[in-house]
Amino acid sequence: MVATFKTLDSLDAAGRKVLLRADLNVPVRDGKISDTTRIERVVPTLRELTDKGASVILVSHFDRPKGKRVPEMSLEPVAIALATALGRPVSFATDCIGPDAEAAVETLRPGEILVLENTRYHAGEEANDADLAEKLARHADVFVNDAFSAAHRAHASTEGVTRFLPSFAGRLMEAELNALDAALENPERPVGAIVGGAKISTKLDLIGNLLAKVDVLIIGGAMANTFLAAQGVSMGKSLQEADMHATALQILSDAKARGCEIVLPVDAVTATEFKAGAASKVVPVTAIDADAMMLDAGPETVKLVIAKLAGLKTLVWNGPFGAFEITPFDAATNAVAQAAAALTEEGKLKSVAGGGDTVSALRHAGVVDRMSYVSTAGGAFLEWLEGKTLPGIMALNAVAQDAIPL
Ligand code: 3PG
Ligand code: MG
Repeated sequence: MVATFKTLDSLDAAGRKVLLRADLNVPVRDGKISDTTRIERVVPTLRELTDKGASVILVSHFDRPKGKRVPEMSLEPVAIALATALGRPVSFATDCIGPDAEAAVETLRPGEILVLENTRYHAGEEANDADLAEKLARHADVFVNDAFSAAHRAHASTEGVTRFLPSFAGRLMEAELNALDAALENPERPVGAIVGGAKISTKLDLIGNLLAKVDVLIIGGAMANTFLAAQGVSMGKSLQEADMHATALQILSDAKARGCEIVLPVDAVTATEFKAGAASKVVPVTAIDADAMMLDAGPETVKLVIAKLAGLKTLVWNGPFGAFEITPFDAATNAVAQAAAALTEEGKLKSVAGGGDTVSALRHAGVVDRMSYVSTAGGAFLEWLEGKTLPGIMALNAVAQDAIPL
């Protein structure tokens, strides 16, 4: 991770043109923005920059148009939603480079905001093409990156531009980096992690990195089934990865060697069919019927997990316990989320969550605003949990940035 990065504290923004990289890649359902969190989270940076008298040229990708102009992937409706969230007008240019963008940038005055069209309409974005990066950079005097959730991509608008402009972390980026640092790099101990999800195979790097960093690793989701099955527990028809048993056993012995305690479910909510309201029963994990599937952790597991949380100072959470989209298989996730939120509110726990399904699971449990920090990042949060270097963040390194004069 980056040692130091410059924040807006050290940017004299007045009268400057700022190229702001946000992540406006919001989820859309039936043509409507279904979650505006990413829009709302960039507002503080936008307000601060414009209040200080900067003019802001905002760039973002949206979905994956793969270098073509796909009309459904235009950022224009998102720019309108941004104006609503801000309570200020925002102008829009139909391309991120070229004559239309240049003309719009030219007329931009201090305090004004211009959103440029989807950077991924150009193939050079994902290719991190220097020519595209240079053209984007030419719009502005400085670069501010507020897109932690796109920082795992070494693209022209995340990494490339930092070679051409003095670069700073925006307030959202700063908050994400500080929260992640407090959760895993320099945490108050004991530190625990909850890792859920379907497959061990997709989270091997993540588990490996966490084993080295946390004191307690709580495993949920179908991934736990594989750990149990590997130890000889009959899991019936539960989802599991039969070819990962040896790996699971290796992880358990690595954890032991490192003094990392692994917590697995002790009981299960099972059903013979996977649908909402399916007839379910609670059994010890050692008593799962041959025709049944484990679809959630049971109440004894919830008690055990909550007791573990009570002994922690820091918690990192990625992945739900059960099939939380479907009742009654959301119970364990909800109960543990409530407990984590309560401990956080009592000042006993620092809780940081993120990555894909996790945010929807916590939103479903109604605790998103009660955790210490919930990241807006999916893939970037996972790569950070894996201990990977995120190119968008490396590029903000203050030492490297000192070479580029303002
Ligand atoms: C995300 O939604 O995780 C980020 O915006 C990155 O999007 P991508 O996975 O299409 O690169
Ligand atoms: Mg995505």
